[in-house]
Amino acid sequence: MKTASVPDYPIHPLLADRWSPRAFDDRPVETDKLNTLFEAARWAASSFNAQPWYFVVAQRSQTEDFERLASLLNTGNRSWAEQAPVLIAAIARLDFPHKGRHNRHAWHDLGLAIGNLSVQATALDLYLHQMAGFNADTAAEQLGIPDGHAAATMIALGYLGDPATLSDTLRAREEAPRSRKTIDEFVFQGRWNAKRDAQ
Ligand SMILES: Cc1cc2nc3c(=O)[nH]c(=O)nc-3n(C[C@H](O)[C@H](O)[C@H](O)COP(=O)(O)O)c2cc1C
Repeated sequence: MKTASVPDYPIHPLLADRWSPRAFDDRPVETDKLNTLFEAARWAASSFNAQPWYFVVAQRSQTEDFERLASLLNTGNRSWAEQAPVLIAAIARLDFPHKGRHNRHAWHDLGLAIGNLSVQATALDLYLHQMAGFNADTAAEQLGIPDGHAAATMIALGYLGDPATLSDTLRAREEAPRSRKTIDEFVFQGRWNAKRDAQ
């Protein structure tokens, strides 16, 4: 795995500038910006245009709803994520509305929608930190998620904060260099694991 702060090949700044912070500013996220983020999610591609993504969102000022979302997080994530001004649960519908057939691309398409949302966030100086560390069963119960749907991640969202507000351990993670596989480790020529032609 490679440690890098700049990409090996040029990519768009909206992609290069995205990262997952733990320190968020207190500043609330404006409602029109939140709407723009969900609008970006709305225009993602999806298998059979099923649009299997759903979001349950709360701003910190919406105390009861925010607390309900925060309470789903595991202790480690909660310690920093509840300082964010917005929490979101990202939910996939696992079957197609027509015929009720299993949608095996539901998670994929929810990921595409969150990808759109995260690029749009970067364009607005907003950052998200996605989290698998939460209790999905309790989420189903507490958020009233219907059968056939499942919470995939929770997301902390907001403007960048000061890493000095974090514990020493979290600050070290916040400031650690980012690591990535090289392209050659995950892109193959014609068959699995075959090295790509150089040209
Ligand atoms: C599906 C998913 C689940 C994640 N779960 C957690 C989590 O529970 N806690 C956490 O601190 N970060 C979590 N992350 C953030 C990743 O650790 C982070 O994206 C990765 O280290 C790459 O760093 P970057 O986003 O800053 O490029 C998650 C990210 C994704 C996409």
